[in-house]
Amino acid sequence: MATLRLGDTAPDFEQESSLGKIKFHEFLGDSWGVLFSHPADFTPVCTTELGYTAILSGEFAKRGAKVIAVSVDGKQSHIDWIKDINDTQKTDVQYPILADEDRKVATLYDMIHPNASTTATVRSVFVIDPNKKIRLILTYPASTGRNFDEILRALDSLQLTDNYSVATPVNWKQGEDVIIAPSIKDPAVLKEKFPKGYTEIRPYLRITPQPDL
Ligand code: BEZ
Repeated sequence: MATLRLGDTAPDFEQESSLGKIKFHEFLGDSWGVLFSHPADFTPVCTTELGYTAILSGEFAKRGAKVIAVSVDGKQSHIDWIKDINDTQKTDVQYPILADEDRKVATLYDMIHPNASTTATVRSVFVIDPNKKIRLILTYPASTGRNFDEILRALDSLQLTDNYSVATPVNWKQGEDVIIAPSIKDPAVLKEKFPKGYTEIRPYLRITPQPDL
């Protein structure tokens, strides 16, 4: 199995889930996707992560993104655990959790790192665009819960930079100034693309207001 890299097509699969059988590419449709693995059901960090992701479900929907979780536990375990997540995290998990008992998805996406654990999936995140291309990959260890606000922030950056000739600077958040792509040098093009103007700090570092606001 080759390592997955940015720009690769996200492997398709069919797998059981808490909501029944899922054909991954069909499930994604024309949406963005966030596929994230967790080590095991009924564990504390995972419970907080999956609960918070459910709390953010409106934010993912606003960005046209579907979320889907995966672990190597079974469907009934997921269904029982979701009740606990909802109860303890005061939320309502509506997104599917893949029941990857045969490790089909974990293997396709290289989510088991044998030197960390031979059985449990690490905390991986794959952000997939509407063309089914992998656009972002994160890998965290079991003991470190992820920051799902960061995943929303990265989605905002991906969607903005896909549509405008800009990049987003360190710690950028929705609404803040962005960086003009260094490849754009023609003054006429700069004027047309950035009618709000820009500040040139260095020839390679030009700051402009977020263009879609
Ligand atoms: C947790 O989710 O709390 C967890 C899972 C596996 C190992 C360590 C922590």
